[in-house]
Amino acid sequence: MTVRLGVNLKGLGLVLGRGVFVRADRPALLPMHAAPWCPPQERGILAPMATQFYTASSIDGFIADPEHSLSWLLTRDIDGRGPMNYNAFIAEVGAIAMGANTYRWILDHPEALEDGRWPYRQPTWVFTHGGVPTVDGDIRVTSAPVAEVHGEMIQAAGGRNLWVVGGGGLAGQFADSGLLDEIWVQYAPVALGSGAPLLPRRLELRLEDVARNRDFACARYTVVH
Ligand SMILES: NC(=O)c1ccc[n+]([C@@H]2O[C@H](COP(=O)([O-])OP(=O)(O)OC[C@H]3O[C@@H](n4cnc5c(N)ncnc54)[C@H](OP(=O)(O)O)[C@@H]3O)[C@@H](O)[C@H]2O)c1
Repeated sequence: MTVRLGVNLKGLGLVLGRGVFVRADRPALLPMHAAPWCPPQERGILAPMATQFYTASSIDGFIADPEHSLSWLLTRDIDGRGPMNYNAFIAEVGAIAMGANTYRWILDHPEALEDGRWPYRQPTWVFTHGGVPTVDGDIRVTSAPVAEVHGEMIQAAGGRNLWVVGGGGLAGQFADSGLLDEIWVQYAPVALGSGAPLLPRRLELRLEDVARNRDFACARYTVVH
């Protein structure tokens, strides 16, 4: 069984995203006729790469419980080919960023790995002030400012989108620097009361898409800069 942060537990897709906007070097060819959650290239229009925070959340705004457990999430039903599905999202991602706790969560959960190996092929920047275990993958451990890392990610992404996996504090740092373009949230039908916050910031957003995917209420927002 394979789990992805962002959701993909053999059909349970936790976090999805797509690129539409922004600060890109290279425009991507996108489709107009396809559903809004389809990746740009399938929608037939030109759109530049986007920096996306794509995650799953409880309805009260937590992406992990206080023990960093995702058990409340991974038991839910989602259609891996349905609205805002993970596979369509990750196909458009060229570089990844995550915080140390998210990275450790992946390493500590065999179901999140791919046959015991690091699951992402994209270069991945892991933010930490200390150290993290190394794995066999393109992992770039950093404590550099997010703006500097963002520039490196753009260079590495080949015109594809940048995925900020989490946590919410790291996504907030990208937003603080004016570098976050989109937020995709898959809301699971549960309230946790406490835990790791979805996005501990005051941020103006515009709702772009909403859809139901089985147990999940899925929403895509753009950040109002
Ligand atoms: N629901 C979902 O789909 C989803 C998605 C992603 C994550 N998650 C879960 O949510 C939880 C997130 O944990 P979290 O809120 O603690 O966030 P996190 O971002 O994963 O980890 C926070 C840590 O990242 C490092 N960090 C953050 N910003 C940094 C910076 N600018 N420079 C250097 N280091 C920096 C620090 O590590 P050091 O302490 O090492 O310095 C900090 O303690 C995890 O349990 C994860 O598994 C859930």
